[in-house]
Amino acid sequence: MTERTFSIIKPDATRRNLTGKVNAVIEDAGLRIVAQKRIRMTRQQAEQFYDVHKERPFFGELVDFMISEPVVVQVLEGDNAVAKYREVMGATNPAQAADGTIRKLYAESVGENSVHGSDSQDNAKIEIAQFFTDAEIVG
Ligand code: CMP
Repeated sequence: MTERTFSIIKPDATRRNLTGKVNAVIEDAGLRIVAQKRIRMTRQQAEQFYDVHKERPFFGELVDFMISEPVVVQVLEGDNAVAKYREVMGATNPAQAADGTIRKLYAESVGENSVHGSDSQDNAKIEIAQFFTDAEIVG
């Protein structure tokens, strides 16, 4: 079923000029980038986005990291896009990520892991709505 997921190319990747290389992996996997913009996340946006992790010990570090450099926020579309993108990203910890995945190829650590992808269709809808209007998504 065609669906959409939300993606972030994180500061460790934008800093190293990896936006194009990450996008090549996404597109080669059959996912279509139907919206994309480079932004500097505000602290408030990052805190809202990661609200589910606010009790975790790494929350402060995670928010500081996400606002440290620009990020690229994206909407990806395709068959089973949520699950497919999670497969393409690889495990959260790059040390456990499978060969050929974005995190295996490019991520530096569990915190600085190059990309984010929604973990469910419900969360994809919420995350997309935080950063994009319907008019900005051109499928
Ligand atoms: P993401 O998919 O963006 O969702 C939550 C993020 O928290 C995760 O990717 C990691 O970047 C980050 N994270 C998870 N575990 C840790 C950890 N142990 N230390 C620092 N950051 C973490």
